[in-house]
Amino acid sequence: MGKVAVAFAAAAVLVSCSVAAVMVGRRIKSRAKWRAVVEILKELEEACDTPVGRLRQVVDAMAVEMHAGLASEGGSKLKMLLTFVHHLPNGTEKGTYYALHLGGTYFRILRVHLGGERSYLDVQDVERHPIPSHLMDSTSEVLFNFLAFSMERFIEKEGKESNSQGVKRELAFTFSFPVKHSSISSGVLIKWTKGFEISEMVGKDVAECLQGAMNRRGLDIHVAALVNDTVGALSLGYYHDPDTIVAVVFGTGSNACYLERTDAIIKSQGLLTTSGSMVVNMEWGNFWSSHLPRTSYDIDLDAESSNPNDMGFEKMIAGLYLGDIVRRVIRHMSQVSDIFGPTSSMLSEPYVLRTNSVSAMHEDDTPELQQVARILKDLGVSDVPLKVRKLVVKICDVVTRRAGRLAAAGIAGILKKIGRDGSGGITSGRSRSEMRMQKRTVVAVEGGLYMNYTMFREYMEEALVEILGEEVSQYVVVKAMEDGSSIGSALLVASLQS
Ligand code: BGC
Repeated sequence: MGKVAVAFAAAAVLVSCSVAAVMVGRRIKSRAKWRAVVEILKELEEACDTPVGRLRQVVDAMAVEMHAGLASEGGSKLKMLLTFVHHLPNGTEKGTYYALHLGGTYFRILRVHLGGERSYLDVQDVERHPIPSHLMDSTSEVLFNFLAFSMERFIEKEGKESNSQGVKRELAFTFSFPVKHSSISSGVLIKWTKGFEISEMVGKDVAECLQGAMNRRGLDIHVAALVNDTVGALSLGYYHDPDTIVAVVFGTGSNACYLERTDAIIKSQGLLTTSGSMVVNMEWGNFWSSHLPRTSYDIDLDAESSNPNDMGFEKMIAGLYLGDIVRRVIRHMSQVSDIFGPTSSMLSEPYVLRTNSVSAMHEDDTPELQQVARILKDLGVSDVPLKVRKLVVKICDVVTRRAGRLAAAGIAGILKKIGRDGSGGITSGRSRSEMRMQKRTVVAVEGGLYMNYTMFREYMEEALVEILGEEVSQYVVVKAMEDGSSIGSALLVASLQS
């Protein structure tokens, strides 16, 4: 080999060595970035961990807080609000009734016709519309004028003949926010939740506002009851099955109500002497306990929300928030690593990732996770490899699993408070006769998160069995109530007339 050829060969070796070195360097760097992301995932998993022991602590804390909230006004973060609902519909109701439901994301209007027997429940018209976002921070006048206008349009579509006798239409107003009631048909707004921000409305009578707006439009409608959505769901549950004594909503927000003995509502003793029980609206979204597994993402979400230091439980389990927790994790990962490409500015937009997208990604069963790719692309994150898409699915899983399991702990807490969790003060060695005394308990459940997100539902139901044990779980029936809060509220109004 000549000198030139030797030099050329040596240079070639050098070049290929340095190319290899660069590639190795890149691989090491990319492995380090991947390791950083895996570390974030690991930390998230640990922080969200909900072993059954921890869930039981949450169960106990929920039961304790319920007692405290019933004992005195302001005795707990759980408001345990009186609803003045002493009797639930039993199937004998007759007539035509309406419900107008202002939820967190949608409003619904419907009409039911009842024939006096349980099987004669005819839900005639159901209208469901997204709440226009400008209403959420408008004024009470704008909001209620809009609701009255929507009601007017609904009635116009009925035609003249449906109200030919000229009697007033009886309406239930299902209002999915915390209200301090003074009767079943009146109560003032305590605070807004779920991103609503009409501050001058706080302290005003909600039913009066709606009635006023409808009177101004000349509508022949009487607001006969003001009903929390959980109470509506309970009413429908009870109508079909009188073992239904608890109702929970997992939607944009979350809450529970249940039938309580009036003598246990210590804070209102004088007021409640006439009847044996009353439905209590827990407003469990505001529940808090040091046993709740909180992450730095929850802390940031809370601090940047429209209601900081409020609704801590809701912010871990409800539909409005799950998407935003997932978004925050992805954003954090994309800031420490380029596995998501350059950090998309959209990842910094609060609530841009909705929980229905989280469920679509979580339940994506296409081999290449195309749904995940599509949703990430909508967030400005394109062309990520399959292993990154799998990572995103894992994040959805961790956040939703925690939510489902905590939701189950909440339900078990209520069961514990009312003595339906099988413990009855006896933690082990239950005899057959004790088991026979265990009563069947139906928990009515409503809300888009529960209805549409299978993994959330499965995690919740699985954890409930884990907490209660196989034996006791057989006595606890969780029943889905489609549109229960609206239909049930109309039934409640019907029961007031009969
Ligand atoms: C409200 C509750 C409501 C729940 C579910 C919460 O944000 O405070 O009143 O029942 O959402 O809609």
